[in-house]
Amino acid sequence: MSKVNFKFPENFLWGGAVAANQCEGAYLEDGKGLSLVDLLPAASGGRWEALFNPEKTLATTYDYYPSHESIDFYHRYKEDIKLLAEMGFKCFRLSISWPRIFPEGDETSPNEKGLEFYDAVFAECHKYGIEPVVTINHFDTPVGLMKKYNGWLSRKTIDFYLNFCDVIFKRYKDQVKYWMTFNEINMILHIPMFGGGMDVTKSKNPERDKYQAIHHQLVASAYATKLAHEINPDNMVGCMLAAGSTYAYSCNPNDVWKAMEADREGYFFVDVQARGYYPSYSARLFKEKNIQLEMEAEDKAILQKHTVDYVAFSYYSSRLISADPDVNRGTEGNVFSTLKNPYLKASEWGWQIDPLGLRITMNAIYDRYQKPLFIVENGLGAVDQVEADGSINDDYRIDYLRDHIREMGEAMEDGVELLGYTPWGCIDLVSAGTGEMKKRYGFIYVDRDNEGHGTLKRSRKKSFYWYKKVIETNGIELD
Ligand code: BG6
Repeated sequence: MSKVNFKFPENFLWGGAVAANQCEGAYLEDGKGLSLVDLLPAASGGRWEALFNPEKTLATTYDYYPSHESIDFYHRYKEDIKLLAEMGFKCFRLSISWPRIFPEGDETSPNEKGLEFYDAVFAECHKYGIEPVVTINHFDTPVGLMKKYNGWLSRKTIDFYLNFCDVIFKRYKDQVKYWMTFNEINMILHIPMFGGGMDVTKSKNPERDKYQAIHHQLVASAYATKLAHEINPDNMVGCMLAAGSTYAYSCNPNDVWKAMEADREGYFFVDVQARGYYPSYSARLFKEKNIQLEMEAEDKAILQKHTVDYVAFSYYSSRLISADPDVNRGTEGNVFSTLKNPYLKASEWGWQIDPLGLRITMNAIYDRYQKPLFIVENGLGAVDQVEADGSINDDYRIDYLRDHIREMGEAMEDGVELLGYTPWGCIDLVSAGTGEMKKRYGFIYVDRDNEGHGTLKRSRKKSFYWYKKVIETNGIELD
């Protein structure tokens, strides 16, 4: 099919995305409790190891914790939202810090100061006509829940989560319409501490425990969807997947099958959240992994009845897989293991760049679910150079985003329904995976380094002016 110059719909939600634990800082201010992310050191302090060893992480005192101050959005949100408004943002994706509202996670009443902070943030967004898009749980489960209940492995966590949802759905009833129940819900399979606030290192069958925790999250997500719709029928609730289609390394059917299995690993979640039932292939998956899920009588009916309104996802790259263990030229630094694709270039962190892969992924997801999509993360993590005159010429970021937006348009021309686009880290923030500041995604530069030095001053990068023009022209002017 030929390339078209796609016209985006008038109400298309152009914006950007952040997460509380990566930008707010103020980690113990105004009654906030500890989030599990607050226990993680920077890359140089052993962050990666800490992510896979929660017990040791809890017992260790590190020299430096990037989330504790982060980029201090907590105190600078007015200045930051003003800059987003200057770019013409129609929406702003952010998350609500669970331990800011329920410091330990299992309290029955919320922390009023925490709620007031988000009152103020949402008011600031609306002042500029920016629609907030809220992730309810973006990797920041309260440490209290991890310590006392092993996070999502316990069914009790469903109730704590729903209590949190009930409070925020009611409080922000007139401020927030777009919700997502869990960020990258499939992350739990790869980093259970991030995704599930849980420790599986001592588990007899870690796979079973992960899928049990997943069942709890899926049920929680369905109940949350029910609640959101009851509290405000206009609410739109989405699921959120770390997406990226998997390619077969060769036309060997064994590779093709492997690729299908890899994609199903992620689709599994959306199959339940968007279709309302466990997919047919799950029975064999559970049998082979020796998993018997504990369910309550009403679980299946709840899953069936309360499916999501839209399917949100992050897309950074496609993935590549082979059935042959000797074909192993993996790239580094990515949670989702992938082989090196000889047709693609990669970022400095080894994340392969595949704009057409976005079109492929969008078509694949839309074909499968026929629900509106929302691209809530996409972008290039790169080192930026501040020139002597203060300018930051991030043409590489502009190139990355332009190529992806073009393919997004192509996918819409293919018939995919897309609600909006919120590139990741619209303002520089702490990297989730590495804890670094130098892995920057933003249109707005923040003066802060990996060790926490810097003035925190904000400045506009070249991409800031470019994206402003993209929004102004509703995606027409990309060059
Ligand atoms: C996604 C997360 O996995 O990727 C974000 O939802 C994260 O929280 C983003 O920041 C980019 O990853 P990283 O490791 O470069 O920060």
